Amino acid sequence: MLKHLSKEAEETPLGSQSPPAKRSCPDLQEKQTGRVKKTRPVPQVPWNPKVDLCWHALVRGASDECEPEWCNSEDPLFILYTSGSTGKPKGVLHTISGYMLYTATTFKLVFDHQPDDVYWCTADIGWITGHSYITYGPLANGATSVLFEGLPTYPDVSRMWEIVDKYHVSKFYTAPTAIRLLMKYGKEPVHKYKRESLKVLGTVGEPINPEAWQWYYNVVGEKRCPIVDTFWQTETGGHVLTPLPAATPMKPGSATFPFFGVVPAILNESGEELEGPSEGYLVFKQPWPGVMRTVYGNKQRFETVYFKKFPGYYVTGDGCRRDEDGYYWITGRIDDMLNVSGHLLSTAEVESALVEHEAVAEAAVVGRPHPVKGESLYCFVTLTDGLTFNRTLEADLKRQVREKIGAIATPDFIQNAPGLPKTRSGKIMRRVLRKIACDERDLGDISTLADSSVVDQLFQNRCCPNV
Ligand code: WTA
Repeated sequence: MLKHLSKEAEETPLGSQSPPAKRSCPDLQEKQTGRVKKTRPVPQVPWNPKVDLCWHALVRGASDECEPEWCNSEDPLFILYTSGSTGKPKGVLHTISGYMLYTATTFKLVFDHQPDDVYWCTADIGWITGHSYITYGPLANGATSVLFEGLPTYPDVSRMWEIVDKYHVSKFYTAPTAIRLLMKYGKEPVHKYKRESLKVLGTVGEPINPEAWQWYYNVVGEKRCPIVDTFWQTETGGHVLTPLPAATPMKPGSATFPFFGVVPAILNESGEELEGPSEGYLVFKQPWPGVMRTVYGNKQRFETVYFKKFPGYYVTGDGCRRDEDGYYWITGRIDDMLNVSGHLLSTAEVESALVEHEAVAEAAVVGRPHPVKGESLYCFVTLTDGLTFNRTLEADLKRQVREKIGAIATPDFIQNAPGLPKTRSGKIMRRVLRKIACDERDLGDISTLADSSVVDQLFQNRCCPNV
């Protein structure tokens, strides 16, 4: 592990709190230039001389030249852990050539990369989006990129648009959760900046509800920037369903069509391929260069998770609908599907209906076991800034979902959620919300949670008695 230590940390070595020899790097005592500055006043991980190396010491001794290490194309490139439905993370292994070829090609075509572009992907670099579309894809294309470490709302909610103007960002890539967060504050903070340089807007990570899509398209892109809603996974290495900007006619909320070489199919529960407009399991029929090669150290698990349910197909774990024009619409993880009185409902559909209400900034819906209906809908809603939750609003929201989707989708519970449990990459941890809905305190591994105080608050505000 290479530790990046702050200036302040160097001046306030951890050794001041505990025996210096054990807790701090000796180089920290030295004043140096060229150090890595981080914002934290004190490193949060204690120094362990057995495994920790000091950046400054290493850089001082390093040569300016770096000979390449020659590798085979199928040698491992990296392992990235992603959550498994059982809770135990899977080490997704990607290899050198296929992954790099695929990220380079998708980056070039999906963002229509041009030499004078300034590209900005807001993802966390430790997430697959940061690997594929901050690091490998853009670098392989020699792209000029903005790297950003910070929050979209700090020091104010115009931060993103300020950066867009400052660096003339032309291609911008973010997650629906960030869009919904910013939507909460209205158009004014966006309008403070011109955003004239923007050409293509991208989204990734979860289904984008049509309301957020429209806001992104109309307010951020002023109706002149195509949106690329890119569907993919840690496992796929790069985009697998995606529009090509300005070439694919868009439909808000649809990831549209497969990328070149990707052959999707929709299967029913018995594994039969469905033709035409249909809904079921999204699978892929042949590999593409960037697909994962194995689960690190567990080939058996690789086969079981992705290939066992429907032999001969790669199973994404996502539900999908194909409409009469052949467009693909991701309906959410299969495990996010709810079965209410025998009707299959996608949580994304209900969330979208809730978020269409002007009082709601963000919504997350989970199933809660119900003795008669099988499952009932338990909804968490984050209100637009300044609004308070009350019975009238609750009734209003229930009515809205009923009207948009149908009586079967009427929520049983609506809980006010000032914050939602999210991973550092912004993904809502529905697994945790399911436990809160059922008042189950054993949450399993929540080490990927960005802010655990949110969870305590949600337990306190639970809105229904246990049945
Ligand atoms: C979801 C992130 C709908 C999906 C790159 C997938 C999406 C999971 C989209 C993978 C999208 C990602 N529309 N859903 N455009 N993009 N997803 O591994 O459920 O963190 O299976 O990779 O995110 O998440 P992961």
